[in-house]
Amino acid sequence: MIVTAALPYANGSIHLGHMLEHIQSDIWARYQKLIGNTCYFICADDTHGTPVMLKAEQMQITPEALIATMQAEHMQDFADFQVQFDHYHSTHSPENKTIAQAIYQRLKEKGHIQTKVIEQLFDPEKQMFLPDRFVKGTCPKCHAPDQYGDNCEVCGQTYTPADMINPVSVVSGATPIIKESEHYFFDLPAFESMLESWIQSGTLQPEIANKMQEWFAQGLKPWDISRDAPYFGFEIPDAKDKYFYVWLDAPIGYMSSFKALCNRDNLDFDAFWQADSTTELYHFIGKDIVYFHSLFWPAVLQGADLRQPTNVFVHGYITVNGTKMSKSKGTFVLARTYLEHLDPAYLRYYYASKLSSKIADIDLNLEDLQQRINADLVGKLINIASRTSGFIHKKFNGQLRDTDTMPELFVHCVAKQSEISALYEQREFSKAMREIMTLADQTNAYIAEQAPWHLAKQTETLSQAHAVCSVALNIFKVLVTYLQPVLPHLADQVATFLKVPLTWENVPKWLGQHTIEPFKPLMQRIESEQIEAIIAASKQTTQAPKPVTEELAPSDMEPILDTIAFDDFAKLDLRIVRIAKAEHVPDANKLLKLTLDLGKESKQVFAGIKSAYQPEHLEGKLTVMVANLAPRKMRFGVSEGMVLAAGPGGEDLWILEPHQGAQPGMRVK
Ligand code: 2FM
Ligand code: ZN
Repeated sequence: MIVTAALPYANGSIHLGHMLEHIQSDIWARYQKLIGNTCYFICADDTHGTPVMLKAEQMQITPEALIATMQAEHMQDFADFQVQFDHYHSTHSPENKTIAQAIYQRLKEKGHIQTKVIEQLFDPEKQMFLPDRFVKGTCPKCHAPDQYGDNCEVCGQTYTPADMINPVSVVSGATPIIKESEHYFFDLPAFESMLESWIQSGTLQPEIANKMQEWFAQGLKPWDISRDAPYFGFEIPDAKDKYFYVWLDAPIGYMSSFKALCNRDNLDFDAFWQADSTTELYHFIGKDIVYFHSLFWPAVLQGADLRQPTNVFVHGYITVNGTKMSKSKGTFVLARTYLEHLDPAYLRYYYASKLSSKIADIDLNLEDLQQRINADLVGKLINIASRTSGFIHKKFNGQLRDTDTMPELFVHCVAKQSEISALYEQREFSKAMREIMTLADQTNAYIAEQAPWHLAKQTETLSQAHAVCSVALNIFKVLVTYLQPVLPHLADQVATFLKVPLTWENVPKWLGQHTIEPFKPLMQRIESEQIEAIIAASKQTTQAPKPVTEELAPSDMEPILDTIAFDDFAKLDLRIVRIAKAEHVPDANKLLKLTLDLGKESKQVFAGIKSAYQPEHLEGKLTVMVANLAPRKMRFGVSEGMVLAAGPGGEDLWILEPHQGAQPGMRVK
């Protein structure tokens, strides 16, 4: 099988958000190898596009020099986090160029490429077409200044840069003009039925299958795969000054990285990629790039007569201490900053203890991490060896003891192997960690109950002390083997300490008359100062300007299952209100004007519930409003909040109706 992690973009450093995915996929790939599967874990730097081109220009270096530096940095960060790729490549490589052009030729021959002249904003000073994110201006809807050319961060409206008021080029500050250009489109709609059958195959995560259904309902559109010069990328064969859009050759980077590995290790590339391949292909990705991996990528592969991904495993975003990573709060933590203060094993274990097969966001709380590591790894796991191995050396020449019958607790721990295996396979890492820590708890309880430190004092109980310590250390071997995909470096140290390879087959094997090395501390407790130092080192007093990224997706792709942090939710002031008055609004199709009684004050709200309610039926009802929404000027007057209603729309729309005993003005908890 081939396992991939998303290719990090070459214009920025690796941070703890990237690490979630790379640790998740590394654990899974290591697990596959541990149980004996042939598995190639592949990644590369994603190097093309306008952001890299402009950043290199700003730094007065070539894009090639920039991406070489970034790739070296990324590879070092991953290696130091014990993320072990079988190959790490670059999308700016001869292999990628050859494969991207071959795929394009195949698509073209089969009639899947069309051209169309489109209008786009053009920077007359810089002589380049501007991606949406490189245009800023005033929102055409709410008039908020300084918004990007694809959507407004204030009112959420999506639009094209040409709709903006006073657009300016982020690159030069010039006012863009509208210019025509011929673009190349991939015929995505032609692949609708094939993609639908993929959705129905039942292998995708349910949330992804649902989201894809929504995209289908909206209708698939041809995908623009070309960009005009100047652009850092691969030229489209037979098209003058046209380049492949970065997102065309990025996933092809999975193939070309694997191709480079095949060249190195003499593997059969085609056996993995031809349409009837019996191998498996898994992509780990974040929820922001599902569109590319669940629609474009399978369709491109199919169109080029290549295999389909076996599955796409999607994870959520990382929040730090409950909110989005923030430079000013010091919670935008770079991989390197973390490594300067803490052992990477801690983050690997912490992420594993939170990861599941779901797409839910994951909160990294550094104090919680500290407690989790100190309690689980130091307090439970390592403790098993540190409290028992001393006696083995002091009293028994460093040798463990044979046993006639397998001790009950050891048998119990070994019996968990298939359950833990299944949890890894299903990417239910947090459940696997819990199982393993339960076994560690039980083992510590056994040691405390047997108290080998007492048994070792009397000659007649000495051999019992030997037995107890041998059980503990044999279980330690089992548990560290279970944790090997998560804590590979610890597993190596323990293999040296116990003088035995920690393999999956060896789990049931009892180490009898077996000599071990003296125990050396394997892991330190985390002190609060280390956590504080990470935050301090990550803090930037002035908020750095947001790096400009390539436009991520077609504008019809809203982020999937986007969540808000608890702090954002807590900002809502929800109040019970009585609808004192409800009136029609002349000329308004959807709105009713409500006068809402909050007890001590009243507010006027225009609510889009006319399709479901007659004004007279609303008067006197209690409902719930968002009372602290900033007033908004609408065509018919100022609206000072929102009332909450749910339903698909039309007549089927219901306002929330609290129990009649509720009092206007009450805060909704
Ligand atoms: O979202 C990103 O950061 C992209 N560079 C991921 C690319 S994954 C693959 F398709 F290449
Ligand atoms: Zn707006």
